[in-house]
Amino acid sequence: MSAIPAEQRLGVPSYVRHRKLIDWVRGIARLTRPDRIVWCDGSEQEANRLFDELVAAGTLRRLNPSKRPNSYLAWSDPSDVARVEDRTFICSETQDDAGPTNNWVAPDQMRATLGELFAGCMRGRTMYVIPFSMGPLGSHIAQIGVEISDSPYVVVNMRLMTRVGRTVYDILGEDGAFVPCVHSVGKPLAPGESDVAWPCNATKYIVHFPQTREIWSFGSGYGGNALLGKKCLALRIASVMGRDEGWLAEHMLILAVTAPNGRKYHIAAAFPSACGKTNFAMLIPPKEFSDWKVTTIGEDIAWIKPHADGRLYAINPEYGCFGVAPGTGNKTNPNAMAMLHENVIFTNVALTDDGDVWWEGMGPAPAHAIDWQGGDWTPDCGRKAAHPNARFTVAAKQCPSIDVDWEDPNGVPIDAIVFGGRRSGTVPLVMEARNWSEGVYMAATMGSETTAAQAGAQGVLRRDPFAMLPFCGYHMGDYFRHWLDLGAELQRAGAKLPKLFCVNWFRTDKAGRFIWAGFSENMRVLEWIVNRVEERARGIEHALGVTPAYEDLRWDGLNFPRAAFDAITRIDPADWKRELVSHQELFGRLGDRLPAQLEATRRQFDARLSG
Ligand code: OXD
Ligand code: MN
Repeated sequence: MSAIPAEQRLGVPSYVRHRKLIDWVRGIARLTRPDRIVWCDGSEQEANRLFDELVAAGTLRRLNPSKRPNSYLAWSDPSDVARVEDRTFICSETQDDAGPTNNWVAPDQMRATLGELFAGCMRGRTMYVIPFSMGPLGSHIAQIGVEISDSPYVVVNMRLMTRVGRTVYDILGEDGAFVPCVHSVGKPLAPGESDVAWPCNATKYIVHFPQTREIWSFGSGYGGNALLGKKCLALRIASVMGRDEGWLAEHMLILAVTAPNGRKYHIAAAFPSACGKTNFAMLIPPKEFSDWKVTTIGEDIAWIKPHADGRLYAINPEYGCFGVAPGTGNKTNPNAMAMLHENVIFTNVALTDDGDVWWEGMGPAPAHAIDWQGGDWTPDCGRKAAHPNARFTVAAKQCPSIDVDWEDPNGVPIDAIVFGGRRSGTVPLVMEARNWSEGVYMAATMGSETTAAQAGAQGVLRRDPFAMLPFCGYHMGDYFRHWLDLGAELQRAGAKLPKLFCVNWFRTDKAGRFIWAGFSENMRVLEWIVNRVEERARGIEHALGVTPAYEDLRWDGLNFPRAAFDAITRIDPADWKRELVSHQELFGRLGDRLPAQLEATRRQFDARLSG
């Protein structure tokens, strides 16, 4: 090893001309003391070199190339398997700006903590500098980030999830804006100390400074905590940018529906985890709808901006999918299965005896496998083969349903926005809001019931406004106001706003069984939504909005009796009265930052239910 400290051997490539960026890298190197610095160029050669190193280090296993070409499997430390919401901080200037739904520490105090944690934390390791674009390169909606990380696993995942490469430096030029993101697994190596396959630290901090638009992440190598372009930049920091600049950063998929007459509609949809978001984004219509086509623009995040023509346009800022593997199979999501054929990084799924992967819900179980913790697994062993939050990382362009316009730098015009949660009762299959502010109310009061995949009691209702509870970088009351203000402003300018809907695929019968068939049958609901956009579908107006009558949906090819339809669309006034009372609990938490319009809407709904 050279005696010259790494920060003096910065090795800045000639194509990096951004002084502030270089100074920042030097400063982080001085603080963290890595042995080496690598400026990533996002090339295939670089990725192959890192894959070889990760295999040699035991972090990745190469899968059988005849089964899963160019694909790898990682097993994480069992303590590092998910996002850590309780260790995630929004360090705005005041606690009130972060709001009651975020963890907050004063910026100075947090900087002192981070200074201690990061001092020398990269000793014995390589520090990678990863330039990336969220959104198509050069798009006016895109944002540039630079992640410094001491994890080569992060580098190869970032290359699939974001657009990494030298072009990013060309776009930045000498003084372009970028979001600095610092990540460390938090496990320095003493001289001669051998590494572990999945380095991490029991102490974890996922920190955002909205004022200075910075991200610092310590102690975890897992996706949502370590791939800082995704939840940290594209949602928490971008939501603040959107508030300040008049646009929206949302936890939404984007899909396109092409009708038999060739007209294409774009729909964004927000769902909390475990509500089938990826399946909906990649929906294949039932054969009776073969003259309809659904294509995918994004499956997790949407950046939505007013366009010169007065409409809202959305881009998917990501380049790949970091999807949950368990539950993904040929029955639930054939497009996802085809997408996973090659060039995939799997994390925490099981390894089959022929060098392939398996997880619960993928298809028939193998007679034997090695589970995600490295133990022998058989179907009757009583343990899960894959961790419930096991993931795949794959480039979005591999998805067979990817839309031709998914990389359009201007985005696609949004016709409708759908909000959904997992509710065993109360919320109907689909309901259209009468207007923007009632739609914002529906989204603000969205809730989802916990499932066996989550720790804690099952069936507990958690309010998850706009599916943004863990991802909003500022006060939730201000976020609601931002939605209301944006809608009002566009309306004043005479713009055509998207129609707002809420959906619920998860109503159950008395025995707790799902009533609605879901998956590809959701096409029937999509058709109604598109026809409502065109104002050519009928519906029944009631106290809360508009729902379809049985005759308003198309039923060919599905034996779904009227009684079952009634059971999933009924608006029960007594249930809804209770529901509206429970909304007050969330509203009360938001205090005087809750827009008065939302409480007024609540009262109007209540009065109409009584009327
Ligand atoms: C995700 C999530 O990983 O929402 O996308 O948790
Ligand atoms: Mn998500």
